[in-house]
Amino acid sequence: MNAIIIGASSGIGMELARLLVKEGYTTYITGRRADRLEALRAEAPEQYRIKVFDITDLPASDRAFDEMVADLGTVDLVVVNSGWGDINKKLDWAIEHTVIQTNVVGATNLCVRAMHVFYAQNKGHLVGISSIASLIGGRLNPAYNASKAFLSNYLHGLQLAVKSRKQPITVTDIRPGFVRTDLVKGDRVFWMQPVEKAARQILDAIKAKKKKAYITKRWALFGWLMKHISGWA
Ligand SMILES: NC(=O)c1ccc[n+]([C@@H]2O[C@H](COP(=O)([O-])OP(=O)(O)OC[C@H]3O[C@@H](n4cnc5c(N)ncnc54)[C@H](OP(=O)(O)O)[C@@H]3O)[C@@H](O)[C@H]2O)c1
Repeated sequence: MNAIIIGASSGIGMELARLLVKEGYTTYITGRRADRLEALRAEAPEQYRIKVFDITDLPASDRAFDEMVADLGTVDLVVVNSGWGDINKKLDWAIEHTVIQTNVVGATNLCVRAMHVFYAQNKGHLVGISSIASLIGGRLNPAYNASKAFLSNYLHGLQLAVKSRKQPITVTDIRPGFVRTDLVKGDRVFWMQPVEKAARQILDAIKAKKKKAYITKRWALFGWLMKHISGWA
């Protein structure tokens, strides 16, 4: 089994890579920080492969993706995990722009690339890491929440497209709540979960070919509240 994890140099992607390797996957790990990727590869050099690129550089991203696919031959799983956000109280355009370029443009480009591979193979599993932030506007980081709403909605669209094509392809929307990683900033956090637990539950959702999963499971309550309490979301 072959997997590509976009954004595996830290946090959720790194932990998920470790679990996939334990499951026997040959796993491409990507990111901009080559040293982090090299350190992870050293844990199981025969199973990890590395590709260093910035997903906001679309020509570089396309090239890297094509090379990974050519090297693996068949791709069973692509996890589009890379993402970025920051507190943006001053509504600085540079922050909003980077969020959109990373979480919307870069991520969507890779989802499209992956789906074309799966259409051609007539099999495959795309996993996008959105967020519970997709369910509500963000006062402190409006572009981050909006970018995750885009990704979540986009993945739903791909699920519908796959259904109409009647191909054995799975698309999963993973919606993490707060997970202890470098990404989480500010003091308005609650129900913070360890990254190992989050990665284990993501692996379970992948194995179960879920369409959507809240990570960790308790965050499904937040999802339910957002859907049913009018005026909040
Ligand atoms: N932690 C949470 O509470 C939480 C909650 C909901 C959703 N999420 C989502 O979960 C995903 C993983 O985040 P995390 O919490 O594990 O944070 P993290 O440790 O900061 O990991 C982010 C990953 O994305 C990669 N990345 C970011 N920008 C990139 C770019 N321009 N090009 C290539 N790779 C890039 C990073 O690699 P390099 O820096 O090496 O490029 C890193 O591997 C993100 O999509 C995030 O939005 C996290």
